[in-house]
This record gives sequence, C-alpha cells and structure tokens, in this order.
Amino acid sequence: MFTLGIETSCDETSVAIVRDGHEILSNVILSQTIHSKYGGVVPEVASRAHLKTIIPIYHKALQEAKVTIDDIDLIAATMGPGLVGPLLVGLSFAKGLAFAKDIPFIPVNHTEGHLTANILEHPDLDNHHLSLIVSGGHTLLVEVMEFGRYKILGQTKDDAAGEAFDKVAKVMGLGYPGGAKLDKLAQSGNARYFKFPRAILNDDSYMFSYSGLKTAVALYIEKLSAEEFEKHKADIAASFQEAAVEVLVKKTLRAVRDKNIRDITISGGVAANSRLRSMFQEKIKGSKFRLFYPSLELCTDNAAMIAAVGYFRYQKDGAGELIANAVPNLRLDEI
Ligand SMILES: Nc1ncnc2c1ncn2[C@@H]1O[C@H](COP(=O)(O)OP(=O)(O)OP(=O)(O)O)[C@@H](O)[C@H]1O
Ligand SMILES: [Mg+2]
Repeated sequence: MFTLGIETSCDETSVAIVRDGHEILSNVILSQTIHSKYGGVVPEVASRAHLKTIIPIYHKALQEAKVTIDDIDLIAATMGPGLVGPLLVGLSFAKGLAFAKDIPFIPVNHTEGHLTANILEHPDLDNHHLSLIVSGGHTLLVEVMEFGRYKILGQTKDDAAGEAFDKVAKVMGLGYPGGAKLDKLAQSGNARYFKFPRAILNDDSYMFSYSGLKTAVALYIEKLSAEEFEKHKADIAASFQEAAVEVLVKKTLRAVRDKNIRDITISGGVAANSRLRSMFQEKIKGSKFRLFYPSLELCTDNAAMIAAVGYFRYQKDGAGELIANAVPNLRLDEI
C-alpha cells in the first residue's frame, strides 16, 4: 500500500511516499531558511513559503518514488499541533487531492508522527515501549501501550527541550535554529566546566522544566567579559547540554524501571543530539533496555513519519474525514 504524506506544521515543507508503513520511497524536505534573519519562525512568512513550494515538492516526491498519483492508496497530512496558517496549506492541499482523486484520507497528529518515526524504521521495536519526544515545541514522556494508545507520563512545565537549545544558542550568538550548532560546538568543550541547574531532577514526577536552565546560562554569560566568553564558549555549550540531557535520560530510565518496559525510543529534533544518544547508551550498557532512535533526517520534521502514522491508523480504524480542520494545539492524547 502506497501512502502519500504531507507535512507543513512549521517551517519545513515535506512530501513523502511510504510503502506499507516501513519503506520510504521518497521523503522530500524543504527547510525554509528565510526565518533565520528574524531569529525565529514568522507564521505568515512560513504560510506563504509553503504555498509556493507545496506543489513542486509534491511532484518531486512522486517522481523520486517513481510512482504517479494513480498509484497512491492513501493520503495523510498533519492537522496539528503547529502554526495554523502553515497547517492549513498542507491540510487543504491534501484534502483537495484526496477528494479530486477519490483517495482515502487520514488527518495526522504531528507529535504522533515524531514517535512513529521509530516504528517506521525499527520493525523489531516492542509494541509496548516508552517514548521520549523532544522537539522544538514538546518534551513528552509517553508510555506507548501499542500504536495509537498513549499514556502521557510527563511533560515540560515551561519551555520545551528544543526551545531551550535554541534560546541558549541564540544567546551564544550561534543563530537560529541553533540546537544542532550548539551540539557541534559542545563536542570540543568540557561538560564539567560549570554545573548548571538540573531542574526537578530528583523528585518522583516525570515532569521537566527548562526555563530556569536557559536563564541560568544567559545570566552566567552576561557576567563574562567578551574574551572570557570566547575562550570558554565550547565549555559553556557542553555544560548546558550536559544539564539539559541528564534530566531527560534520568527521568526516562526511571520510568522504564518503574513501568517494567524494555524498549525506549527518542524522537523529535533533540533526538539528533549526540550527547543525548551517548548518555543513554552509557547508562543502559549491560542492561536489558534497548534504545531506538530515528536516522537524522527523520528526527526533525518530515512527511515520511506522517505517512507512516496514516498507514498504521488506516490499518486500525479505516479512513478519516475530509472535514478535518487544523488544530494548532492538538494534544497527543486527543486523537
Ligand atoms: N543536534 C541537536 N541537538 C539539540 N537540539 C537539536 C539538534 N538538532 C535539532 N535540534 C532542535 O530540534 C528542534 C527542531 O525539532 P522539530 O523539527 O522536531 O521541532 P518542531 O517541529 O519545531 O516542534 P514540534 O514537533 O514540537 O512541533 C529545534 O529546537 C532544534 O534546535
Ligand atoms: Mg516537529
């Protein structure tokens, strides 16, 4: 079964063709670079850019997959969460296409897409697993009972993990979005240079908090002279990253022990972080736990993960409704 997926929830225009929920035939992603000069995504600018690029990207995805629209069995598009204007571009295009070509349609939750990137790429992953979703807008610890049945165990009280990476990167002059650049800089730094706060690390909740850490780094930098900052830039990046990652790893591992779950997945843009991956590997070495993460391209926003959700949901519940509308603050447990 060929599923065409469409993702336009933020600043990536993406169309993908996925066969049977696991085989990516094409996954065309266009990241809008225009927002870097504003230091963040401008919703109206993003909507217009999606409008311009969605049709050429759709054709490119079909071409790369060596199929035509007549081969497509299912169309899936992100309905939320995300920015309403950008969401409407992809969703309207998908619904119009589904209606015109009489192809079943599934509206998709973007956050479920991140989680499902692991199911797409790792067929041996246990149905019942624990999923840490760490992206620009979310920090969620989710018990996946099976695909489509989720219990949210914890989330952030304020900023998302990716947001903290972006804000610290901005304060450090690394530009926007800066998560990946900060990761790279941290690789040449000393993570023990300064101990930044690990918020609510030792309580018995699965909650997270990142605004204090972000502020602590900003205040620390403010007190340094320009020379001191330049000299210790990499050390500060590494020290911040260590604090941000330690809480994620510690709480996730506590949850899998508490719930007696074997498999852990990480997803979302921050799942690309090299220290998050290495700290998890160090801590689970020799244990029964297994860690799964998507390939780099499937960590950040992409349409292949949306197509995969569409496929699995169609297998479970059949087609969705063409009346589905964009829901900017759609929760994972609302689907
Ligand atoms: N190597 C990395 N280390 C840390 N953060 C990273 C890395 N690569 C990307 N990120 C961060 O991931 C985020 C982008 O991820 P993603 O595309 O999943 O988020 P989003 O779509 O903006 O948010 P959401 O999915 O919650 O709506 C950004 O905050 C970015 O800085
Ligand atoms: Mg995302």
